[in-house]
Amino acid sequence: MSATHTITIPTMAFYDAWAATYDTDGNVLQRLDSAAFGDITPLLFNVLQKPIRLLDLGCGTGRNTSKLRGMLPPGSTLYAVDGSEGMLAQARASMPAEPSQVEVKWGSLDFTRQQADLDAFIGSAPVDVVISTLVLEHVMLDQFFAVIAKTLKVGGWAWVTGMHPDMGQSRAGFRRDDGVKVHGISYIHGLEETIVAAKKAGLKLAGTVEERGVDDEFAVKELGERAKKWVGKRLLVGILFGRVL
Ligand SMILES: C[S@@+](CC[C@H](N)C(=O)[O-])C[C@H]1O[C@@H](n2cnc3c(N)ncnc32)[C@H](O)[C@@H]1O
Repeated sequence: MSATHTITIPTMAFYDAWAATYDTDGNVLQRLDSAAFGDITPLLFNVLQKPIRLLDLGCGTGRNTSKLRGMLPPGSTLYAVDGSEGMLAQARASMPAEPSQVEVKWGSLDFTRQQADLDAFIGSAPVDVVISTLVLEHVMLDQFFAVIAKTLKVGGWAWVTGMHPDMGQSRAGFRRDDGVKVHGISYIHGLEETIVAAKKAGLKLAGTVEERGVDDEFAVKELGERAKKWVGKRLLVGILFGRVL
């Protein structure tokens, strides 16, 4: 097979195959996402006085789950859900072993197909907060926001990030050892249509829309070699929503 050969496989199989190297292959989007997460979440969590229940929807390797566990007030519960067993196994393994007063519950399920299982997993009360980073491209907008609206309490908020439409036809992928580029199922979502779909589901914008990219050559130094081809482009969009309906 040539080094330019590309295959598309079902999303969960794709993430099972990527899980071992997902955190370490120099992915620019993840780095931008981590920076945005680091800027926004302290503002949201530092003011919390009481325990909360939070859903990390599509938690992957737990990149954010472990950070969230360290940020939430004692007595909080963190529901970490993913449809890829491979990604979840990494997440479990990477969770620091030290005891915590925040309970983490792991849910292995596809939230677009198993809403009833998700409901049973989080229990009868809706959660206070949903965090879903870099999951959006794999899910149709109406489905994604319907799940959030069903799971999140009225007055709760959701931090959602995804690929910026400026990335054009790009989609999540990794190169296997044999040179083959592997992708899962992806959709390209416009910014406006994302916000409209969220509104339709009963969510409204609760702040500015964060757009982040590779501003210049200096940014390449921080974001790594793979950022070079993206200079001048926006790659990440992050939106804070509040549930109103
Ligand atoms: C790019 S990774 C992001 C993981 C993590 N949130 C992060 O920011 O690193 C996307 C994750 O979403 C999960 N995912 C995609 N669609 C899903 C679905 N319908 N149900 C459950 N998990 C899903 C994938 O298995 C994968 O772990």
